[in-house]
Amino acid sequence: MGGPVVLGIESSCDETGVGIVRDGKLLAHVVASSMDEHARFGGVVPEIAARAHLHAFNPVVRRALDEAGLRLSGIDAVAVTTGPGLSGALQVGLAGAKTLAYAAGVPLYGVHHLAGHVAADTLEHGPLPEPCVVLIVSGGHTSLLLVRDLVREPILHLGDTRDDAAGECFDKVARILGLPYPGGPAIDRAARDGDPKAVVFPRPLTRPGDDPYAFSFSGLKTAAARWVEQHRLRGAEPSVADGAAALQEAVADVLTRKALAACRAYDVKTLVVVGGVAANSRVRALAERRCASAGIGLRVPPMTLCTDNGAMIAAVGDLLVRAGAEPAPLDVTIDPSAPL
Ligand code: KG4
Ligand code: ZN
Repeated sequence: MGGPVVLGIESSCDETGVGIVRDGKLLAHVVASSMDEHARFGGVVPEIAARAHLHAFNPVVRRALDEAGLRLSGIDAVAVTTGPGLSGALQVGLAGAKTLAYAAGVPLYGVHHLAGHVAADTLEHGPLPEPCVVLIVSGGHTSLLLVRDLVREPILHLGDTRDDAAGECFDKVARILGLPYPGGPAIDRAARDGDPKAVVFPRPLTRPGDDPYAFSFSGLKTAAARWVEQHRLRGAEPSVADGAAALQEAVADVLTRKALAACRAYDVKTLVVVGGVAANSRVRALAERRCASAGIGLRVPPMTLCTDNGAMIAAVGDLLVRAGAEPAPLDVTIDPSAPL
């Protein structure tokens, strides 16, 4: 017969995601993105995101139910991201989730967005080998976490970015180099023809005495801008490919160095890398090489589970239901700046 069927909803940023999970297995995974509507503004516009969630919500829920071959009456619980994220965007998802839970007469579970990112990997690779270190790198987050027991113990926040997120750094530098938004994939492609050693960008917060798990990426943006400017002052155009390759090298070096340092310090044998930036070819290659030489297992979920989606929220909901966790009251509110 199988365990409870959990429908998960994610709407914290520009993706409206609905996923359905049973016993750790994915039954449906549907995502609608408003990314294209934000592209001409060079970043996510909160009001546009909230409106897009409103339009996408019902169709996405319906498609997910169809994909799973279920009706609403076949759902045993609803899980929803309550934070952190954009408040208008979160509101739409939570209102929708409450309506579905009420209509189906099933419990509602509030889920922390980052716990969702962590759980995403379980849908591909099975239960998390705990403890593990998780590096979440996207347009909105750069966090290094220590997970001892995802549903029973609080996640330990080891470090965060002090300014820009890693994905934001890719996006901003791409703009400086004249590449399109979102910048990460554009930089990744351009870097294939570049020489990562053509210019050495700084490795912020990697000196002795610096916080080993904190990140800072805004300096890289300034360094890239200065590098472009120096060329133009000489009447030359910089090589976009070289700039992209060097930037990617700097970000990948810092991310993997700090993630590996956390694994060693906490004697953890598994590193999980999630978020949009986990798609970066250099981040992956360097993580693979450094983990292999340190005897640490590396788990990177497939890209569709790495970026924001509802399946990852359903995955946490599924773990919570099976652990006998207390559901949320129907008057639960969003928590846009939720701490871990
Ligand atoms: O996880 P995600 O889809 O959304 C959130 O930000 O939550 O991540 C999007 C970010 C963007 O900043 C994008 O530029 C970056 O991930 N990204 C990449 C790559 N693909 C996406 N960054 C570097 N290399 C890539 N291949
Ligand atoms: Zn996210």
